Amino acid sequence: MKICCIGAGYVGGPTMAMISLKCPDIKVTVVDINADRIAAWNSDDLPVFEPGLTEIVLSTRGKNLFFTTDVDKAIADADIIFISVNTPTKTYGIGAGRAADLRFIEACARRIAKVSKNDKVIVEKSTIPVRTAESIKRIFDTSGTQARFQVLSNPEFLAEGTAMTDLENPDRILIGGERSPEGEKAIQKLVNVYAHWVPKKKIITTNLWSSELSKLTANAFLAQRISSTNAISALCEVTGADVDEVAYAIGMDDRIGSKFLKASVGFGGSCFQKDILNLVYLCEHFGLPAVAEYWEQVVSMNNHQKKRFTVRIVHSLFNTVAGKRLAIFGYAFKKDTNDIRESAAIDVCRDLLAEQAQLAVYDPKVSSETVLSSLGLGAEDESVTHCQSAYEAAEDSHAIAILTEWDEFKDLDFEKIYQSMNKPAFIFDGRNILDLEKLRAIGFEAHGIGKS
Ligand code: NAD
Ligand code: UGA
Repeated sequence: MKICCIGAGYVGGPTMAMISLKCPDIKVTVVDINADRIAAWNSDDLPVFEPGLTEIVLSTRGKNLFFTTDVDKAIADADIIFISVNTPTKTYGIGAGRAADLRFIEACARRIAKVSKNDKVIVEKSTIPVRTAESIKRIFDTSGTQARFQVLSNPEFLAEGTAMTDLENPDRILIGGERSPEGEKAIQKLVNVYAHWVPKKKIITTNLWSSELSKLTANAFLAQRISSTNAISALCEVTGADVDEVAYAIGMDDRIGSKFLKASVGFGGSCFQKDILNLVYLCEHFGLPAVAEYWEQVVSMNNHQKKRFTVRIVHSLFNTVAGKRLAIFGYAFKKDTNDIRESAAIDVCRDLLAEQAQLAVYDPKVSSETVLSSLGLGAEDESVTHCQSAYEAAEDSHAIAILTEWDEFKDLDFEKIYQSMNKPAFIFDGRNILDLEKLRAIGFEAHGIGKS
């Protein structure tokens, strides 16, 4: 059995590493058109930071896991092809700002049709709009190739930062396929791959469209919980309620559950916003404007939350941050990842720079180049300083904004930090990871999300 995965990103790399680990009898080849990324996967410095990933890649790479830019050969050799390319929000033309840009998916389908000589199972691993498999099938059916293809939907539910444990012990594996004898055979082939390590009762099979739509729906529901908590956090701040206590109290209800109720400066990451906007676009496309409007509110509330945080900083600092040094602790969209896509930190920093603040940024995994380019700034720009430690960032600053919940921020010596800052010294904990009472006892003016 040979597997090819097109797209060596945050999903393709970790997912295939796990398959190679659990299925030593399967040869797994991950391909990408980005030669730098492939070179990094073949080096000691992997392009994706995920706890536990390096160890797995080092144990299987060169045995049954391979990374290459030779896309055509890997496609031609494979029995199963995973398409794991990016599906960003479209920035142009019809559906700009909402619809998914499917040009990378289409390019893969055309390439597969062109170079395949034998029958294959094609697996949509990327997150795509419902009924995308129909378009892929049409490309195959009209390509003139003799090879026959079965298209399956197998969305990925891993979260960054916990990708390896999510992959090793998934809540479920979802496989959608055609309800025909050929479709069932293809589904079974993929079930057999996961059955190497996932209990059969956790492997769900559905029709194609249910599987495609379940992925967008899962992300919309998760993000909706965060926006709901964040909406309540605004009310907490003006009433004296504490959002962590409210979340704990409501989460004790089994019907609600305790996960994904953590108030924050706003959710980030490459998928929540993109997938909800995609859902909104689909609803509009299918003539359901009220449904579209309902889901769009989840994104609007998230934008509001990020704005509210910046406004709180500016108001607290006597309505001006112009020329003031502000320390930014954390830039990644969550802890344990080097990914900054759609990180709330980008919006907050951009808004603070618009107020002419001077930013001193520290993140344990995000480089200076990544921070500057996300803000559209060059290396020579003096409004942003990249620091090697939280202590360095805090020195001489007027305020600290905690934007990522890195564990190391909880263990800092805040007495020492306080001494090195301008007074009054402020902390704005955008992740509610610090003890505000302790900080206040040191002398800080400390603010959390959803805390008065
Ligand atoms: P990514 O941008 O990290 O990786 C995608 C890779 O595909 C890039 O390296 C790109 O060069 C490559 N690529 C694009 N077109 C190609 C082509 N024609 N041939 C070969 N390679 C090509 O993206 P990602 O974060 O891995 O996400 C991939 C998909 O998985 C998206 O649809 C996303 O919504 C979904 N997803 C992501 C996550 C996540 O945590 N990042 C989780 C679940 C699902
Ligand atoms: C999310 C989903 O959790 C995955 O199941 C899904 O596969 C993935 O999107 C995807 O499709 O890409 P991810 O974005 O990697 O995973 O990370 P999450 O843990 O979901 O966090 C997303 C954002 O929400 C982060 O900024 C995080 O800090 C924030 N968050 C999360 C909160 O503000 N509060 C919470 O309670 C939980």
